[in-house]
This record gives sequence, C-alpha cells and structure tokens, in this order.
Amino acid sequence: MRYRAITTGVMLALAACASEPRVGADGWGASAPLATAVDANPDSHVVELTLVAAPMRWTFAEGRSLDGLAYNGSVPGPVIEAHVGDTLVVHFRNDLTEDTTIHWHGIRLPNDMDGAPHSQAPVPPGGTFEYRFTLPDEGTFWYHPHANEPEQMERGLYGAIVVRGDDQPVVDTETLVVLDDLSLAADGTLAPFGGPLEMHGGREGSTPIVNGLTTPTVRVRSGERQRWRIVNAGSARIYRLALPGYAFTVLGSDGGAWAAPTSMDELYLAPGDRMDVVVDVTTAPGQSVTLTAEPYERGHGQGVFAPIELVHLSVTADAPLAPLAPIVRSHLIEAIDTAGVTPTQITFNESIDPMTGAVSFFVNDQTYPDVTPIPATVDATQVWELVNMSGMIHPFHLHGFFFQVVSRNGVPEASRTWEDTIELHGMEHVQIAFRPDDRAGMWMFHCHILEHVAGGMMGVMDLSR
Ligand code: C2O
Ligand code: CU
Repeated sequence: MRYRAITTGVMLALAACASEPRVGADGWGASAPLATAVDANPDSHVVELTLVAAPMRWTFAEGRSLDGLAYNGSVPGPVIEAHVGDTLVVHFRNDLTEDTTIHWHGIRLPNDMDGAPHSQAPVPPGGTFEYRFTLPDEGTFWYHPHANEPEQMERGLYGAIVVRGDDQPVVDTETLVVLDDLSLAADGTLAPFGGPLEMHGGREGSTPIVNGLTTPTVRVRSGERQRWRIVNAGSARIYRLALPGYAFTVLGSDGGAWAAPTSMDELYLAPGDRMDVVVDVTTAPGQSVTLTAEPYERGHGQGVFAPIELVHLSVTADAPLAPLAPIVRSHLIEAIDTAGVTPTQITFNESIDPMTGAVSFFVNDQTYPDVTPIPATVDATQVWELVNMSGMIHPFHLHGFFFQVVSRNGVPEASRTWEDTIELHGMEHVQIAFRPDDRAGMWMFHCHILEHVAGGMMGVMDLSR
C-alpha cells in the first residue's frame, strides 16, 4: 500500500509515529482497531499463521458483551494481509464444542482447500487442519465457517483477507470496514436462533456491528483520502451505504479492480459481497458525518427499516490536507465469449407451509444435500441462467471462481466486472458466464443468506476434466 508523505504533527492522535502511514488495513486507529495476523514465516512469499476458533466473551460496545465465538480471540478474526502470488498457510485448530471448517470466500484455490462440505470432512472439536494454497488474485476476501453458519457467524466467526498487487493508489489511510449486525433479545443476549420468520427472511438484527463494534466513532482528517475495503459479513442484510454529501469512488469489487474508478452515491453489498472504495473527506474540521445503512427492500417486507447509523466519522480540528487528484487507473476486463454456449438453467425457489409457516428452499426443485450436481468441464465456457422464482432477493454465491454478469432479465449488463456474489432479485433471471480453469472438484454455490444456506438453498457444480 502506498501513502502520501505526511509531515510531523498531522497524524491522528493515536497513530504511533508521524513518519509512518497513519492506519493500515487493520483499522481506523485505536477508535476501531482490528487484530492483524502475525506472519510467522520469514519467507517473504509465504504468510503463515495459526487460527484457533474458540468461545470468547465478545464486547461489542462499552458495557455490552455476549457469548461469542472468535478466531484468535477477536471479532473480526485477524486481518490476513498478503501479496499476489504468496502462499497462505493456516494451522487451524477447532476449540469449539461443535464441528467447523474455514471457507476462504472468493479465493481461487484448489477444491480440497475450500473448507466446504464437499471439500473436506468437518474439523471436530479439538481437531486440526492445515490450509495451504496460493493467493492468485489481488482484492478483498474473507474467511468464515461452512458449518452451522447462522450461529457460528452471528457469534463472531469471520475475518478479512487483503491481497495486494504492485499497483496501489496513493491514499492517506486504508481500513477494512467489516459489516455485520446482531439480533439481540430484550435482556441483551443473542435472540434465539431459528423460528419460521427468521428462517424465511434471514436474521437481520437491529444492532449494527462495524469491525466488531456498535457504531464506533473514528477520527479522520479533513482533506484526507481514505480507502475502505468493505465486507458484508452479515447473515441477511443487504447494505445500502450512504454518506451524506459524499460520493464513493469505487475501485473494485469481489474479483478485484473494475475497468476504471467509478463514482457512486450509494453502495450495495449483499451478504458475502466486497467493495473497494475511496472516500475523500470533505467535511470541515471539527464537524462529523455518519455512514448509514439505508432501507433496502429485499422482498416479502424484509429490509424495511429506519436508516441505521454505522460509523461516525469525527473530523479532527487539524487544518485540511490539500485534496488529491482523482485516481486514474485502468484495468482490462475482457468479455467472455459466450457464442454457441447453451445456457444451463438453475432455478431458485421457496415455499411456505400454510399450516406451520415452515419455509422450504429449492435449487432446481431440490433441497441440499439432495441435489443433482450441475456438470461442468474444465476450460469449457459456462453460461448459467439463474432464475429466481420467488419474490425475495437471494444473493447468489459461487465458490472458487469469478464470473461476469452477462445480462439481467435479458438486458445486457452495462459494466463488466468479476464477481463471486451477486444479487438475484425477486422474479429476476440473470445470465452469468465463466470459464473454469483446471481445478476439478465439487464446488458449492448457494444463496448467501445464512438461514437459506441452512434451509438447503445450495447446489454443487461437478467440475471435471
Ligand atoms: Cu461465503 Cu459458501 O460462502
Ligand atoms: Cu436466499
């Protein structure tokens, strides 16, 4: 990461040394710190660490805590930072009282490292597993369990991964913004899990969590350029992010850089999504501005709420930094040639038992694990026609590969990006395309609303040579 030179005396109060970057990917300084992974391997091309999943008391606000689960005792788990091409080695130990795995969301890794049900046997309590794979792509990724997802992730098992290439824009501050929410009972403990409403709409809690804290206040300086790598680690909420009076400059999303930086007034992140954006602080010294989650109707009355305050940006009294010139960057994203490829249709549906209110979820009219795998061949272009036959948004996620959205409801997609998680709106049909490289195996795809994962809205791609 590159920073512009900042002279002594203009550092945020809590940064250690005026000649160093103020904040790394590990957070907005001490006001919203994030744990970072300590690389135990001296080889500069290997990042090696131990991750232990264990119960912990998670303090998410002053005087407020709950029975959480965490990687290495922090929520989010330690930020893993690496360079493109590095090998990541994780010595994992399960100190939970139930099975778990680690899935490396968005990373194009070998199938047996994917941490998903078809990739490895679950790690039992007291068990260990060694993950070892290279990081082929620049971008923002994340890790989380693929076992009892609704509860393990609500309690705090998730962490972010930053993979950098050589060409990084100059910024003053870089931070991760890991979004989540908690559904709490009146006594402040976690609300009970399950129940037909939650299993249908997903667990969308009213207590916002950013980097493990409820509505933190972070100190920023007027004029500074901040880079935010945003991860939606929540169960069901689709974040519609707004910062009053600001536009975000989007650098990239799930699968890395966009063709060019793009100005957007609001950002949309479905569960599992990432966005890499630049925010130029224009608020005057001594003022503050608040990042909010705006209501976003997900269908069936879900996602309708008053705006939620996520982070207060409190601007220091320091004289404003001179604004930086707009970021100029271009990145070639070639369109996948889909000529002559017959689309594979995959339907997503749900049904409600009128008597009990119990919901069932389907992929091609089947419920995981009783699903017929979708066959695919290495190096053969895939075109999938994803059809949402329900009235609710289902965020579609494919493991192990990035794809391009070709069209939505037959209308060609205006911009070309690489994604691993997209919104599939109610009654929408979306065409995606990708060309799987030589990583044969059983790859999962599913709705990333965790209660829908639990309900079986999940399928498998059988990729063979
Ligand atoms: Cu974050 Cu199976 O996914
Ligand atoms: Cu869903």
